[in-house]
Amino acid sequence: MRLDAPQTIGVKKATAPRLEVRNVSCTFDGREVVRNVSFQVEPGEIMCLLGPSGCGKSTTLRVVAGIERQSAGSVHADGKMLCNEVFATPPEARGVGLIFQDFALFPHLTVGQNIAFGLKGSKSEMRARVDELLERVDLAGYADKTPHMLSGGEQQRVALARALAPRPRIMLMDEPFSGLDNRLRDGIRDETLQLLKEEGTAVVLVTHEPEEAMRMADQIALMRDGQIVQKGAPYNIYNAPCDKAAAAFFSDINVIRGRVEGLLTNTVFGQFLAPAVADGAEVEIVFRPQHVKLDFDRNGRGPNPTPQDGVPARGVVERARFMGHESLVEFRMDFDGGKLKATVPGVFLPKPGTPLWLSVRRDRCFVFPPKG
Ligand SMILES: Nc1ncnc2c1ncn2[C@@H]1O[C@H](COP(=O)(O)OP(=O)(O)O)[C@@H](O)[C@H]1O
Ligand SMILES: [Mg+2]
Repeated sequence: MRLDAPQTIGVKKATAPRLEVRNVSCTFDGREVVRNVSFQVEPGEIMCLLGPSGCGKSTTLRVVAGIERQSAGSVHADGKMLCNEVFATPPEARGVGLIFQDFALFPHLTVGQNIAFGLKGSKSEMRARVDELLERVDLAGYADKTPHMLSGGEQQRVALARALAPRPRIMLMDEPFSGLDNRLRDGIRDETLQLLKEEGTAVVLVTHEPEEAMRMADQIALMRDGQIVQKGAPYNIYNAPCDKAAAAFFSDINVIRGRVEGLLTNTVFGQFLAPAVADGAEVEIVFRPQHVKLDFDRNGRGPNPTPQDGVPARGVVERARFMGHESLVEFRMDFDGGKLKATVPGVFLPKPGTPLWLSVRRDRCFVFPPKG
């Protein structure tokens, strides 16, 4: 054993995240379109910036890429600063790959030349890397074709191979799948995901589609008006949204109101816990249509209340539609004439006017104090 062995042997090294975005803000013409955005991405992890159009997702990504300058905050890769308010590493020196929606392959170059475009090294090394990547994206033998001979999905896979070729530490993807038709999209998403995981790339994926985020992301950062309003695993964001708008971003929601008395809210569906809300305050109880349970009407009576499902309330079917893997039933409720929605797996199409009883899973309800 060497006596001058490093002292740190056996001590876990605290490694910096692959990508860290720290308190980044971005201002255009005096308007702050990105505000104090922070997140971290580890190798092999997919972080999704999710939010409606115009909320600042692409601007955030462009700051990381180095094609936009922030007004405040910094970006770091493996502990090294890439940029802050006054300093910026040029885009090409960041070790970052980019894929955008309108990924343009060079039309006059072959598939192989497209993929080799950003590569350095000997001809044989480049050829080997191109062949390896073509195999990975299931396009072995396509090296000598030109882009116009390829379908949209094949072109997208070439774009992915091209972006991966120089082995970027970080991959930035801005709505990369939205130009593809639905049937192609699922397959390409899954293949892309697997490839990026295998390469150990840290990925930031921008999308406005919650399904895409749920399908692809390890972590979702939900953005609104330039800010991250909630961050977490897809499961957590879906099941514990921070507010009504966050809940509504992922599915239809139902909302009922109640007034708080001693930590509880009494509603027609029974009592709900409303911790940390002052007595007398009105709260909104939010639940998704898939967490509504339906029961048949038995001479004007519904099922007995249970601790799990609370008290049933009666409604009359207004409309029922088959949605593919589930049916969506809309009700006009007896108690206040308001509308509530329920989804039922498979085919369930009761006639308009049918009375049914609705109850709501307690553990699937979110209680929010109203805004403002
Ligand atoms: N170069 C620019 N100059 C002025 N305003 C811009 C510029 N780029 C984006 N914006 C504005 O910043 C806001 C956020 O845009 P963007 O980041 O593209 O949102 P998203 O990608 O979430 O749809 C929008 O209101 C947009 O109009
Ligand atoms: Mg955008």
